[in-house]
Amino acid sequence: MTDKYAVIGNPIAHSKSPFVHAEFARQTNQNISYEAILAPLDGFASTVNGLIEQGYKGINITVPFKFEARHLFTPTKRAIDAGSVNTIDFSRRVIYGDNTDGIGLVSDIQQNLRITIQNKRVLLIGAGGAAEGVLHPLLNEAPSLIVITNRTLDKARNMDKKILSNGAFLHSAKAFDDLAEAQFDIVINATSTGLADIALPIQSSIFAKNCLAYEMMYGRETPFMAQARAAGAQVADGLGMLVEQAAEAFYIWRNVRPDTQPVIQMVRALQMEKS
Ligand code: ATR
Repeated sequence: MTDKYAVIGNPIAHSKSPFVHAEFARQTNQNISYEAILAPLDGFASTVNGLIEQGYKGINITVPFKFEARHLFTPTKRAIDAGSVNTIDFSRRVIYGDNTDGIGLVSDIQQNLRITIQNKRVLLIGAGGAAEGVLHPLLNEAPSLIVITNRTLDKARNMDKKILSNGAFLHSAKAFDDLAEAQFDIVINATSTGLADIALPIQSSIFAKNCLAYEMMYGRETPFMAQARAAGAQVADGLGMLVEQAAEAFYIWRNVRPDTQPVIQMVRALQMEKS
């Protein structure tokens, strides 16, 4: 029998997840279906309950329901750290809400881009849901320094306060203006500025030699990517993270790890065809 999975969001038509999971299933011979489901903005919980009744085995959750999802089922430590849930497995006795976004980013940086985070100076730009979702998994890799910067400094400060430092790394929250003298080995843009083609008020001098500039969005060259490229940084978009977070969800559901590289290449090729 085919096991049913889905991603729930609003909007959802643009989602690449059905393609990604179909490829994972084909590659690993798993008999599953995976569809994109649009939930009404005020109807997330009832949509989820309906899927459980219909025998769905698990779901992914995307914008804008990731925060609400935290309160539906028991959150895992990863979900508590992230402040949001993107993966639920209905097939266990206790239903946990998990979050695979952060591990997806870390896997993309370390396994696909082959850059270790340990002992690196990391700048995380943004203090919204996307930034919070990746903060703890980044810290788990023991960077030497992590600075959180955000247009609204108080939000960066609040995120910084949540860091339980074991003394192995330095951490702080800084305003954009206070970064003038600083240099980083990994700079991650977790703001939504790319969506609106807005440039960030950061100096190009923040990109250290051999820096990785990681844009968590995918699908277009953002002003952040263009600036980093011009400054000589290695630039990556969030497509690898998208596929890696999906692979982690697939592993939770199916206990099988798909090979992400060919799927990343396929999604990238599809994007090129469109543009
Ligand atoms: P998401 O879930 O995508 O993180 P969010 O929680 O609304 O969305 O967070 C958006 C992030 O992008 C925030 O860090 C936001 O900065 P503020 O906290 O100051 O709002 C950042 N952002 C959005 N527009 C921005 C802009 N024009 N310049 C700088 N940062 C911006």
